[in-house]
Amino acid sequence: MLTINQTYNKYALPAKQNMYTGTIPVQNDTVQFKGRVGHEIIKSGKKNLTLIQETAFFREPKTLDYAVEYAKNKFADASKLRIIVGACSSGEEALSFKMLMNGKKAEILGFDAGESAIKQANRNIYQISIPKDKKNENYAKEMGIAAYRDSYLGFTDKLTKQEKKYQHLFNKMFEEIETPKQKVSFLDKFRNYLLEKMGRYPDIEIKSRTYKVKQPEKLNCKFMVGNIEQMDTFIPNGKAHILSFRNAFYHIMNEDLEQGERTPIPESILRPTLSNIAKQTNKILKKDGLFILGEHEDKQGSNMELLSEVLKESGFTEEVQRKNKYCNIWRKVSDL
Ligand SMILES: C[S@@+](CC[C@H](N)C(=O)[O-])C[C@H]1O[C@@H](n2cnc3c(N)ncnc32)[C@H](O)[C@@H]1O
Repeated sequence: MLTINQTYNKYALPAKQNMYTGTIPVQNDTVQFKGRVGHEIIKSGKKNLTLIQETAFFREPKTLDYAVEYAKNKFADASKLRIIVGACSSGEEALSFKMLMNGKKAEILGFDAGESAIKQANRNIYQISIPKDKKNENYAKEMGIAAYRDSYLGFTDKLTKQEKKYQHLFNKMFEEIETPKQKVSFLDKFRNYLLEKMGRYPDIEIKSRTYKVKQPEKLNCKFMVGNIEQMDTFIPNGKAHILSFRNAFYHIMNEDLEQGERTPIPESILRPTLSNIAKQTNKILKKDGLFILGEHEDKQGSNMELLSEVLKESGFTEEVQRKNKYCNIWRKVSDL
């Protein structure tokens, strides 16, 4: 059996997506054009897939807090927790897990299908952004954009108790550095223009502050390109305490059409794909390990009824009460 470290180094891009990648927006050194609402376009066969890489620190805190507390208690005897964050985008979710460990040792692997997102994650440099004014803020809210919901980490004085706790953890891990001036190339502008035309991104004006991880060598957090459908090629069996794959199933359950539209993949084709993912998830988790989904996946266009059915067939049980018509935290009860 390979150790997790050997495994990380052994496998590179999953075959299906080892192709041209174009990035939207392309970054000039460390900075994204519009905060952390990035996109990346990859080729899959003859098709272009638009990966939406919107994310935020401490996104969906109830779920995060629940999973971390559960793992700390359930696996109290483990010398360290092993956490896999699939669809990690530029790394905010993985580092949120790390911060919430608050003393408990944890080894974290983040993977994402997007090469550019992983490059960004490996930089250990993040921006906290906030819409520039009320008008832009309302626009972001109306669009349901989650990327700026961590703006309190860098911009707000009046914090709730929970925000204070998160800001404290954030300041332990990060230090502020100068925000570089953002240059936007003609190509970036053109791509952003196209995305806006597709209704993908409104041109929200933001202001940002930039932070870097103080001691990256102590993070014990790795990022790699990987596809959840091929986890068995890069994650060892039976070692993980948590696998998170949040706010990404809509990429798997729908087919990208032109103009940014998506159409649901028929159940007969989708079921084997989900079944394959559920089986691999079962394999990489320890008994009683958790599989975590986002809190609003049904509203993002994912067939959560079907996924729930498949998870039940694959050795999982509902760990928390259903919200939004499905359960978003599942526990592995048996091997397959
Ligand atoms: C909206 S982001 C979610 C980020 C983070 N999990 C969160 O909840 O904030 C969706 C991510 O899923 C990734 N993704 C899509 N399909 C994937 C797949 N088959 N395997 C791994 N990552 C995938 C995309 O590249 C994108 O970064």
